[in-house]
Amino acid sequence: MTGYQGPQVPPESLRTIKRLAAERDAVILSHYYCRPEIHEVADFVGDSLGLSQEAAKRKCKVIIFCGVHFMAETASLLCPDKTVILANIDAGCPMADMVVPGDLAKRKEELPGVPVLTYVNSSASVKALSDICCTSANVVKVLRSLDAQTILMTPDKNLATYAQKLVPEKKVLTWPGFCPTHHRLNLKEILELKAAYPQAEVVAHPECQPKILAETNVIGSTSGLIKHCSESEKKEFIILTEEGVLHPLRKRNQDKVFYTPATAMICPNMKKNTLADVIKALETLTPVIKVPDESRGPALKAVERMMAVPRD
Ligand code: 13P
Ligand code: SF4
Repeated sequence: MTGYQGPQVPPESLRTIKRLAAERDAVILSHYYCRPEIHEVADFVGDSLGLSQEAAKRKCKVIIFCGVHFMAETASLLCPDKTVILANIDAGCPMADMVVPGDLAKRKEELPGVPVLTYVNSSASVKALSDICCTSANVVKVLRSLDAQTILMTPDKNLATYAQKLVPEKKVLTWPGFCPTHHRLNLKEILELKAAYPQAEVVAHPECQPKILAETNVIGSTSGLIKHCSESEKKEFIILTEEGVLHPLRKRNQDKVFYTPATAMICPNMKKNTLADVIKALETLTPVIKVPDESRGPALKAVERMMAVPRD
């Protein structure tokens, strides 16, 4: 039996990407939810927090970001001296669009003195109105790091509810945002999967609804879940997050089995990034992602405050 390899990158495309990346002094960063072939050409594949950290520390002139808009924007905030390019300009995040500056400013007026904790899945203009950011990898530590007793968390109500459970000493006010890819999982199919594979460990991303998370064994960021499954002595897992994680999971764990729900967990935006987009981005050095001047300072402050807090 041959082991899992996943889709292969055509050698000609690989050569072109490597040559152009060297000529441009470019580093290619990919989120785990991107297509497997994008993982294969990337210099680094990671979760939202890992990608921000990597963008900040890499010594290069250009970053080609394979992910969604807010991720490239965060890289641009952290790397003012680098040209940050989003491989596919149409790759947005519907959850990030569920909070806009006008609505957040209004809510802040209703809640004087309440700090705003914003998930990185948000625009820079929303981050600019926030006190601090978090990702799924550091949400608990960020929440605990705040002096305030009551905190408004935007935009993901599922992540906020998950964090509230782990930090009961604070009061977390939620915002009605959610990730359509994770939110659509239904409880019945999870219960059926668990019944079919009772020996499997259930691992999930905190963007899932609370009723789904209540049925799981392990909750974490994409890299947290991959690390857990890779280090665990268990051999079977039910994976409740976007299917992009399956490529590294299967590649690193040839002796393990990963089950997925019948509801396809695919983020259509992450999948917009293609090899052709990467080649075009390297050739043209467009589209460049820039943060509006009026948002840059305060948004960077909220992101840097987060970066100072260690990962969960
Ligand atoms: P993480 O990779 O940070 O867990 O984020 C998941 C996600 O939905 C990114 O959009
Ligand atoms: Fe946004 Fe969900 Fe896609 Fe992540 S998986 S980019 S939260 S829509």
